[in-house]
Amino acid sequence: MRRPIHHHPSPRPHQPADAANASGKLAWKPGTLLAPVPPVLVSCGGAGEWKPNLITIAWAGTVCSDPPMLSISVRPERYSYALLKGLGEFVVNLPGAAQARAVDWCGVASGREHDKFAKSGLTPLPSLKVRPPGVAECPVNLECRVTQTLELGSHTLFLAEILAVQVDAALVEPGGRLALEKAGLIAYAHGHYFALGRCLGHFGWSVRKQPGGGKR
Ligand SMILES: Cc1cc2nc3c(=O)[nH]c(=O)nc-3n(C[C@H](O)[C@H](O)[C@H](O)COP(=O)(O)O)c2cc1C
Repeated sequence: MRRPIHHHPSPRPHQPADAANASGKLAWKPGTLLAPVPPVLVSCGGAGEWKPNLITIAWAGTVCSDPPMLSISVRPERYSYALLKGLGEFVVNLPGAAQARAVDWCGVASGREHDKFAKSGLTPLPSLKVRPPGVAECPVNLECRVTQTLELGSHTLFLAEILAVQVDAALVEPGGRLALEKAGLIAYAHGHYFALGRCLGHFGWSVRKQPGGGKR
């Protein structure tokens, strides 16, 4: 277990070093504990000298609605880094529980040694607007073009516009709604993968009037 960090000496000399404060809290090392986050399979390469490759990314996020944009953060030492920089295009593939094992493997194996599409059994999906192929087995594929890169420290942030999206046809209801809640998506929190479970509500449910007159 990581040791808690104390920024200030305890005012009480006999207090044990790692005792919780009155609120039951311990000061913890400042770090990347934002959780849960989406563990995504990012495809890159697939043009010029680069064969298609897959890299697992947990430091991914939505950053703008219009234009639709997302970001991924990648360490320069990754094999994928040169492919991302070189092509300026990638696909963010949202994995379901069925792809969880491949997600982990693509996050520990390198494209320097492995053809990750071939070895993971994942199928390249022709993209609509970018050169890297998506992953056919993933229910959602977000095709992205890099607009900016920011060298932050350990990671370089790739800001990208989402140019095209492919979704599994089976997830689209007859009325046209995308039933993403049926995609079996997964989450990542502090080193563990989770299947999304119970739905707690939907957007705005906290203020929706109940049939009986009350609010939830
Ligand atoms: C769950 C998980 C999340 C990861 N997230 C990131 C990330 O956000 N950024 C990154 O640079 N590497 C991340 N990695 C590590 C890379 O996926 C890993 O180093 C991979 O082997 C690199 O592949 P490549 O050498 O083919 O590019 C993650 C790995 C796992 C298992």
